[in-house]
Amino acid sequence: MKCLVLAALVCALIPGVHCVAETVEWCYDAPACNDTTWAVTFPAFCNGTRQSPINIVSASAKPNSNLTAFTFQNYNNKSALQLIQNTHHTVRVSLGSGVNISGGDLSESYDSLQFHLHWGNGSSVPGSEHTVDGKRFPMELHIVNTKSRYNGNTTLASEDPNGIAAFGFLIEVMPGNATGQPEAWRNLTSYLTNITNSGDSVSMAPGISLDDLLVGVNRTKYYRYLGSLTTPDCNEAVVWTVFKDSIKVSKDLIDLFSTTVHVSNSSSPFMINTYRSIQPAQQVTTQPSSSSSAFTTCYSLVLMSLGLALALGWN
Ligand SMILES: *[C@@H]1O[C@H](CO)[C@@H](O)[C@H](O)[C@H]1NC(C)=O
Ligand SMILES: *[C@@H]1O[C@H](CO)[C@@H](O)[C@H](O)[C@H]1NC(C)=O
Ligand SMILES: *[C@@H]1O[C@H](CO)[C@@H](O)[C@H](O)[C@H]1NC(C)=O
Ligand SMILES: *[C@@H]1O[C@H](CO)[C@@H](O)[C@H](O)[C@H]1NC(C)=O
Ligand SMILES: *[C@@H]1O[C@H](CO)[C@@H](O)[C@H](O)[C@H]1NC(C)=O
Ligand SMILES: *[C@@H]1O[C@H](CO)[C@@H](O)[C@H](O)[C@H]1NC(C)=O
Ligand SMILES: *[C@@H]1O[C@H](CO)[C@@H](O)[C@H](O)[C@H]1NC(C)=O
Ligand SMILES: *[C@@H]1O[C@H](CO)[C@@H](O)[C@H](O)[C@H]1NC(C)=O
Ligand SMILES: *[C@@H]1O[C@H](CO)[C@@H](O)[C@H](O)[C@H]1NC(C)=O
Ligand SMILES: *[C@@H]1O[C@H](CO)[C@@H](O)[C@H](O)[C@H]1NC(C)=O
Ligand SMILES: *[C@@H]1O[C@H](CO)[C@@H](O)[C@H](O)[C@H]1NC(C)=O
Ligand SMILES: *[C@@H]1O[C@H](CO)[C@@H](O)[C@H](O)[C@H]1NC(C)=O
Ligand SMILES: [Zn+2]
Repeated sequence: MKCLVLAALVCALIPGVHCVAETVEWCYDAPACNDTTWAVTFPAFCNGTRQSPINIVSASAKPNSNLTAFTFQNYNNKSALQLIQNTHHTVRVSLGSGVNISGGDLSESYDSLQFHLHWGNGSSVPGSEHTVDGKRFPMELHIVNTKSRYNGNTTLASEDPNGIAAFGFLIEVMPGNATGQPEAWRNLTSYLTNITNSGDSVSMAPGISLDDLLVGVNRTKYYRYLGSLTTPDCNEAVVWTVFKDSIKVSKDLIDLFSTTVHVSNSSSPFMINTYRSIQPAQQVTTQPSSSSSAFTTCYSLVLMSLGLALALGWN
């Protein structure tokens, strides 16, 4: 069993390797292997008690002023997106070395290794993993970061309860009738026709950065909770950061994901509804709201004026 799991892991980690050894199967699209079965087929972690994704209840998020800004290294590097691949479960982009993050109440620096996406069936059938106040978004982008000390060894990272820092970016349809926007997303989605079959991969030309893809998101505002990987083995090793602002992408580009890439070959179904269902709630924290800090500011101003009035003998 251990060996089979390891074989599957090796397959998942090494791009281009033909995975005859992958005997541990999971999927999104068939009753025999979809997420309702994972707790049984991957009982070690998928049946755990801090599983992801969750529904985030914004009004229940506890204020924590330790949730400061992140430092993003090389997120503006237009050569960092290196290889895009159809992994049979998602579309994944591997990042070059030197892309890393720190801050945001994380204990140390983490390397950004890859990002991948989750989606539904076109922009009208949403497929984000996290939901906010019960709302599911059209898509979700995940950046997978592992503690820099593990040097990209994801096995070591997934054995550490804080070994992985995952970023979740919710994606919404851009308002209006725009097409092919934002430009960076047009560029990214232009590669989908090159990876229509499972196992396909193609290198990406320099041109777009992570910052370009994360356009419109104020990355100082986010939710934080402790959870898991959302795919087997569902390791409970993830510090989750879900950003409050969404990325706005035009409908035509969102629709390309569910109409271009296949689960296996071109006669297999399109990859759709690539998300795990909602797991039991966890304690979520967030930055103290600006209204409460506005209140504090206002309150202090009143106190100061009162003090001043008293000092001046105003009565
Ligand atoms: C997942 O499997 C369960 C039964 O195991 C079934 O009820 C459900 O419809 C399936 N969902 C999908 C998307 O295949
Ligand atoms: C999952 O965990 C629950 C509660 O701990 C337990 O009742 C159930 O039998 C477990 N299921 C599997 C498949 O291990
Ligand atoms: C904030 O960080 C300080 C210093 O690490 C720690 O003592 C405190 O418990 C943290 N507060 C919260 C709410 O986590
Ligand atoms: C940008 O990223 C590439 C690939 O990781 C790296 O080779 C290059 O040195 C980086 N550029 C800078 C300015 O750090
Ligand atoms: C993070 O990336 C920067 C720029 O590539 C690099 O100088 C720094 O050493 C990296 N930090 C760690 C902890 O790897
Ligand atoms: C996905 O959407 C397409 C186009 O609207 C539709 O033909 C197809 O039946 C949908 N697939 C599922 C599984 O709902
Ligand atoms: C990850 O680290 C473990 C333990 O040190 C080691 O056995 C394994 O070979 C490493 N994996 C990779 C891909 O380097
Ligand atoms: C979008 O296109 C439709 C049909 O062409 C038009 O009726 C509508 O006014 C357009 N909306 C915007 C915001 O441009
Ligand atoms: C991707 O496929 C298109 C045809 O669909 C082709 O023109 C282009 O060269 C391919 N790009 C790469 C990077 O292989
Ligand atoms: C889009 O991608 C192509 C390679 O396919 C690259 O040459 C080009 O510079 C990119 N354009 C932009 C605007 O990012
Ligand atoms: C991001 O949000 C913070 C907190 O609300 C705000 O102070 C800051 O000005 C915002 N930054 C941008 C670029 O809008
Ligand atoms: C495509 O994959 C299916 C299984 O998903 C297989 O039965 C079929 O033979 C394959 N077709 C081709 C042309 O490779
Ligand atoms: Zn994911």
